[in-house]
Amino acid sequence: MRRRAAEYRRPVRRRFSYWIWGLLGLFSIAALVMFVIHHKHEDRIEPPKNTSIVREQFPREGLNFTEEILSVTSFARQLSDQMTLAKAYVIIAKEHNNLQLAWDLSSKIRNCQLLLSKAAMREQPITLDEAKPLVKGLSSLIYKAQDAHYDIATTIMTMKSHIQAIEERANAATVQSTAFGQLAAEMLPKNLHCMNIKLTADWHGNPVLREIAGEKKNSPRVVDNNLYHFCIFSDNFLATSAVMNSTVSNADHPKQLVFHIITDGISYGSMQTWFIENDFKGAAIEIQNIEEFSWLNVSYSPVVKQLLNQEVRAYYFGSSEDPKSDAKFRNPKYLSLLNHLRFYIPEIYPSLEKVVFLDDDIIVQKDLTPLFSLDLHGNVNGAVETCLEAFHRYYKYLNFSNPIISSKFDPQACGWAFGMNVFDLIAWKKANVTQRYHYWQEQNNDRNLWKLGTLPPGLLTFYGLTEPLDRRWHVLGLGFDTNIDNRLIESAAVIHYNGNMKPWLKLAIGRYKPLWERYVNHTHPYVQNCVTS
Ligand SMILES: *[C@@H]1O[C@H](CO)[C@@H](O)[C@H](O)[C@H]1NC(C)=O
Ligand SMILES: *[C@@H]1O[C@H](CO)[C@@H](O)[C@H](O)[C@H]1NC(C)=O
Ligand SMILES: *[C@@H]1O[C@H](CO)[C@@H](O)[C@H](O)[C@H]1NC(C)=O
Ligand SMILES: *[C@@H]1O[C@H](CO)[C@@H](O)[C@H](O)[C@H]1NC(C)=O
Ligand SMILES: *[C@@H]1O[C@H](CO)[C@@H](O)[C@H](O)[C@H]1NC(C)=O
Ligand SMILES: *[C@@H]1O[C@H](CO)[C@@H](O)[C@H](O)[C@H]1NC(C)=O
Ligand SMILES: *[C@@H]1O[C@H](CO)[C@@H](O)[C@H](O)[C@H]1NC(C)=O
Repeated sequence: MRRRAAEYRRPVRRRFSYWIWGLLGLFSIAALVMFVIHHKHEDRIEPPKNTSIVREQFPREGLNFTEEILSVTSFARQLSDQMTLAKAYVIIAKEHNNLQLAWDLSSKIRNCQLLLSKAAMREQPITLDEAKPLVKGLSSLIYKAQDAHYDIATTIMTMKSHIQAIEERANAATVQSTAFGQLAAEMLPKNLHCMNIKLTADWHGNPVLREIAGEKKNSPRVVDNNLYHFCIFSDNFLATSAVMNSTVSNADHPKQLVFHIITDGISYGSMQTWFIENDFKGAAIEIQNIEEFSWLNVSYSPVVKQLLNQEVRAYYFGSSEDPKSDAKFRNPKYLSLLNHLRFYIPEIYPSLEKVVFLDDDIIVQKDLTPLFSLDLHGNVNGAVETCLEAFHRYYKYLNFSNPIISSKFDPQACGWAFGMNVFDLIAWKKANVTQRYHYWQEQNNDRNLWKLGTLPPGLLTFYGLTEPLDRRWHVLGLGFDTNIDNRLIESAAVIHYNGNMKPWLKLAIGRYKPLWERYVNHTHPYVQNCVTS
């Protein structure tokens, strides 16, 4: 309205008499503006029309001030609302170095608080006379802040960033806690599925690829214990690619690295094609298909037996599941046999002495070869502990009401994480770790010890065989915790997107997504094709 007044001024400027008219007009507009503003204030402080309601709800004796503040019509409510707004403007004013306004607002807020606490003490509602000067004063300051100094854009930007932070946190909580979140984390996004199909078609259509794969399989580097061996068990080629790319990109001598990938039958072709067609700085790569592991069968592994068990499958999948389909090859993360392969590493690689196990939802940021020379003090598993701030102790994962657990384990024992583990395979075989794992799986046939996952059996299997590593080797939580310290992330050798908000999903936490994306080649024709289609 003010701006329009200024525009009206120009055409009536030509002659003196017009000038007077103009001034008069201006005054009347100004008066109108004042009236509107004033009227607005009057609106706000006007007593509620049906006062009998107010009287009935708030008898003079023993007023409940919480209810008074929550009441739509009370002055206490108006004052506290205005105070909230004023507090926001104090922050904005301070950010813009307008200390006078910040001080004015703060002193009004103080007066407001004083009045509210006075009313609460005497247990009587605030009256019109008490509220009027404060409401007016605050309104004019807020008006000043809104109009005179801080353009709406700034305010909106500031508010928006606050709201975004809050929303992201709320979103994280929802995604993390719902079954939908779990499901969404397991599903391959459409573009990834699209790339999978193209790569698989290439694999079947191009005999040269299969020849190259055959040659790579017999490379002597795959069994050379002078090299550094990593294993990744995954059905997601893009995630695996990011893990490998980040590992070789940060390695001092990438040619000395060997990656052992195991995937399922559906993903095997796309894995092979992707890793033949892309360059990983000369690192050796071996890719195997879990369906060809005939030794991993019902008679050997209680996990395979349990996966095929009708009752257990009903528990995991619900009753609608087709009993004829093979549980082994279904995707649900916890069930997937790929997930349990970590307990069979010496069986899969009988000639290797030491490996670093990597999950597919991590990114490597430093050279990992020093891990291989760490002294594990005779232990089998090097891992970071997770009980430092959080309460990730054994009692959280296991059923200590059960005597099998409570007689053998300390409920306060510190938990540790899978995702980046150094395994000494010689010590593993000496301690019969796989046998221990089988023992615990058999004990848990009725799911009385733990419900789901690989960590609880891991905690039991590697109990007393785990060497704690410096936590900077492996920083966790990027798939659910929006508040991880940036310095911690920067200092980490490995960052882990554990949780449902995986970096390749829309659900990903915005702040951590670029750390993953920079290890994906976005100029690859399939990446581009599948994103646009
Ligand atoms: C005011 O509220 C009372 C109680 O709810 C009701 O009986 C009365 O009709 C209302 N009066 C007006 C004018 O709305
Ligand atoms: C005041 O009202 C609130 C909300 O209705 C209620 O939770 C609280 O217990 C009440 N306090 C007293 C002292 O009655
Ligand atoms: C099952 O696995 C064991 C060893 O793990 C092997 O000796 C046996 O031949 C396998 N059975 C079948 C049917 O493949
Ligand atoms: C824990 O173990 C006890 C003893 O076997 C059993 O009765 C109980 O149901 C178990 N609790 C859960 C949650 O499985
Ligand atoms: C491992 O198993 C073998 C054969 O079953 C047994 O002789 C050996 O004592 C076991 N070692 C340990 C540490 O339990
Ligand atoms: C590996 O990461 C680099 C960036 O560090 C990127 O330029 C390259 O395209 C990536 N390679 C693949 C195969 O994604
Ligand atoms: C990304 O992929 C394209 C196509 O396969 C390739 O030409 C290019 O060299 C790759 N870029 C990097 C940095 O690896």
